[in-house]
Amino acid sequence: MNVSMLPGTSFPIPDGVFAERVTLVEHYNDRLFRFRITRPASFRFRSGEFVMIGLPNSDRPVYRAYSIASPSWDDEIEFYSIKVPDGPLTEHLQKIQSGDTVLLRKKATGTLVNDALLAGRRLYMFATGTGIAPFASLIRDPETYEKFEQVILCHTCRDVEELAYGKQIVAALPSDEIVGEMARGRLLHYTTVTREDYPCRGRQTDLMASGKLFADLGVSPIHPETDRGMICGSMAMLRDTKAALEAFDLVEGSNNAPATFVVERAFVD
Ligand code: A2P
Repeated sequence: MNVSMLPGTSFPIPDGVFAERVTLVEHYNDRLFRFRITRPASFRFRSGEFVMIGLPNSDRPVYRAYSIASPSWDDEIEFYSIKVPDGPLTEHLQKIQSGDTVLLRKKATGTLVNDALLAGRRLYMFATGTGIAPFASLIRDPETYEKFEQVILCHTCRDVEELAYGKQIVAALPSDEIVGEMARGRLLHYTTVTREDYPCRGRQTDLMASGKLFADLGVSPIHPETDRGMICGSMAMLRDTKAALEAFDLVEGSNNAPATFVVERAFVD
């Protein structure tokens, strides 16, 4: 047996890559799904980081950056993905089943991490679409609740169905063995929809500008002494949300220079 071959293929395992087994696939609709893979014992990451993943379907696999949606203590790794018709990776990835192999580059990285923010009282997470993935990791990490008294997860999608993944994670949180107790009463989930009827309509940027977002949550507007932000979505959403936070005098930070908000693009499109 040649141990350096990818399972079921004649391709060698590339350098710097783990070959992991899919343990679960759940489809939400024809555009969105999540999947879980085994976690190599030596794979370390901080909640909120991303990693490059690919499929063993070529001797030169296509890799794309994916936020890890599971927390750093989990013994499996979860991803949340869109299905792009003709997308070089997602057209194949959307067909994976339990038992299949997914390739995982060994190094995780990213700026949506607690370390890149100065201490504060309240952490806002601003997500659109699949940009919720890194926050699905962070809201399940005890460190987030050790660092912040209150966590506000804002998620805006085009339609109601796209909110399903976030609602599923948040609904399961109170009974989570590791973080359930800490998160109780301290995580607020603010969902808005832009292209369908929904109790809260509109982009979160507009809802911040009008003050409705803060009024709905029953909190005072963002203040640089107490509030911190993390942003994940499309390029346009990042630009507009960053401008909204800067209007509240928050300052963009990084791993090297922690400040009051951080930004990361939701990658696969
Ligand atoms: P809208 O329907 O008004 O475009 P997308 O799938 O294009 O990434 O959009 C996901 C969600 O993000 C949609 O609800 C969309 O609203 C919203 N959105 C798109 N662009 C921005 C932006 N520049 N600022 C805030 N929200 C945005």
